Amino acid sequence: MKKLHSILSIVLVLSLVLTAFTGCGGKKDYIDYLVLVNKTHKLPDTWEETVRLKESENKYGEKYLVEEKALESFYKLQEAMAKEGVVIELDSTYRSVKEQQQLWDDWTIEFGEDYVKTYVAVPGFSEHHTGLAIDICIEKGGVRINDNDEMIAEREIFAKIHEKLADYGFILRYLEGKEDITGYGYEPWHFRYVGKDAAKKITEKGLTLEEYLDEK
Ligand code: DAL
Ligand code: ZN
Repeated sequence: MKKLHSILSIVLVLSLVLTAFTGCGGKKDYIDYLVLVNKTHKLPDTWEETVRLKESENKYGEKYLVEEKALESFYKLQEAMAKEGVVIELDSTYRSVKEQQQLWDDWTIEFGEDYVKTYVAVPGFSEHHTGLAIDICIEKGGVRINDNDEMIAEREIFAKIHEKLADYGFILRYLEGKEDITGYGYEPWHFRYVGKDAAKKITEKGLTLEEYLDEK
C-alpha cells in the first residue's frame, strides 16, 4: 500500500512538472479567439450556439451584444481613451445573419452595390456574427460621429485610439493599403478582439489577421 502511495505521488509530481513546462492543462478558451471569418471563410456552423454574448448599453441608450471577454476589454479601452479625452462608444457589434441581410439591403438602396461590396460582408461571412467585432463611433465637440466618410477623415482621433488597441487585445481589422488581402475598404472604426498576445504580434508586424494566420 505504501509502495502504491509513493508511485501515485511520483506520477502526480511528474504530471505537475510536465504541465508547468508545456502549459498543457492550462485553461483552454471556450471559443477560438483567432477564428477567421472573411469573404472566403464562413462563420463556423456551431459558433452562435457556443459564443457567450453579453448585453451592453451605450451612452445613447442603444443596446448591443458583444462576446463577454471582448466586452470587458472594450470597457477598459474606453476608460483608457476617456483619460485622454477621447470618447468612444459601441456603434455596431454582434449581428445575426438576418440583421446583416437587412444592413446589406438597406445600404444597397442608400449607397449602391459597389459601395456595399466594399464595406459590408455578405450575410454569413461577416466577422460581426462572431460577437468579437466592434464598430465604434467617436465624438467631436460633444457630437457623435458614426458616418463612414466622416470617421475616415478624423485621422488624428483614430490614430490615438489605434495606438492603444493591442494593449486591450484588439486589432484594427481592415487596414489601409491591405484592401486586397482583407477584401474590404479601410475601416478605422472596426476592431476585432483576438486577445492580447496575438494583438501585440499582429500590430507590431502591421499584419492583417489573414497574414498572421498564414504565418503561424
Ligand atoms: N463591415 C464589415 C466588413 C462587415 O460587414 O462585416
Ligand atoms: Zn464592423
